[in-house]
Amino acid sequence: MRWTLFVLLLTVPSQSEAGPQQEKASGFQLSPQRSPESGGSAAMASTCEGLPTAGATAWILANRSLERLPSCLPRTLQSLDCSRNKLLTLSVGDLSHLPELQQLTLHHNSIATLRWGLRAPPRLRALDLSYNRLNRLPRCVRIPRHSPSVLELAGNPLQELPPRAFVCFPALQQLNLSSTELGSGAQGGIAPAAFVGGAGEPMATLKVLDLSGTHLQQIESGWIRNLPNLTHLYLRKMPRLRTLEGDVFKMTPNLQQLDCHNSPALTSVHTHIFQDTPSLESLLFHK
Ligand SMILES: *[C@@H]1O[C@H](CO)[C@@H](O)[C@H](O)[C@H]1NC(C)=O
Ligand SMILES: *[C@@H]1O[C@H](CO)[C@@H](O)[C@H](O)[C@H]1NC(C)=O
Ligand SMILES: *[C@@H]1O[C@H](CO)[C@@H](O)[C@H](O)[C@H]1NC(C)=O
Repeated sequence: MRWTLFVLLLTVPSQSEAGPQQEKASGFQLSPQRSPESGGSAAMASTCEGLPTAGATAWILANRSLERLPSCLPRTLQSLDCSRNKLLTLSVGDLSHLPELQQLTLHHNSIATLRWGLRAPPRLRALDLSYNRLNRLPRCVRIPRHSPSVLELAGNPLQELPPRAFVCFPALQQLNLSSTELGSGAQGGIAPAAFVGGAGEPMATLKVLDLSGTHLQQIESGWIRNLPNLTHLYLRKMPRLRTLEGDVFKMTPNLQQLDCHNSPALTSVHTHIFQDTPSLESLLFHK
């Protein structure tokens, strides 16, 4: 039996675990300084000049044409915002002298290489790498004990997720892959074992997954079965998503919100998928 789509708007729970944007910098805040186009390294040398470093917990160094993270960052930093700069790589080694770091915001840079691993800051909770140039994810030979719970990868040119794509991030709770190129490559986009951990286990920590704005044509039971604790799934503005069917939600009994807003090709949904999701509180469809 098929349902014709209709608009059903129930209360959308406010996203209690919403991303890093929410947190306000509590420490020292710099007003952005425009540096001349050619002055990248000059800008870097002067980045820390005159800043109160002792005990600083939050720095904002957005819009400064930085090509690298400054080396003068205080050890006490808990939050660092270097968004809208010109960073090309991120290595955990660059962060190893920041033991207190909890939130790292690097959206709108040019990061094409991400090196992650054992030396990742142990308290890092949120890593925002949205709108960079990552076309693949790091491989970790040894799996870190700590990992951020929030990983923002929106707007990166990722075409596919290979098996065990997130082994470097074993504690992920929220993963944002919106506006990536998933589904536009020759492969299907998401490998069946993409969400399998380093020891072959399902990623049971993941609760929120955003695939909005991608080119995926279907949600496949092959990969979603490895997300048994998924509560929120965002499938907005997906031009090629046509149907939701079969047993896709059999393995995600805790699903509370399914948001398919503005996915114009989605014309049929098998009702029995909802028998598998007794916790569903909010279902958003709109054409
Ligand atoms: C950086 O620049 C962007 C675009 O010019 C602006 O929207 C944003 O507010 C700036 N951020 C800061 C922290 O100054
Ligand atoms: C994912 O990232 C995009 C772009 O930053 C943002 O608009 C969207 O709200 C995020 N999704 C969730 C579920 O937070
Ligand atoms: C999965 O969800 C259940 C119920 O919410 C919770 O008790 C359990 O700890 C979760 N598992 C993980 C690995 O987060």
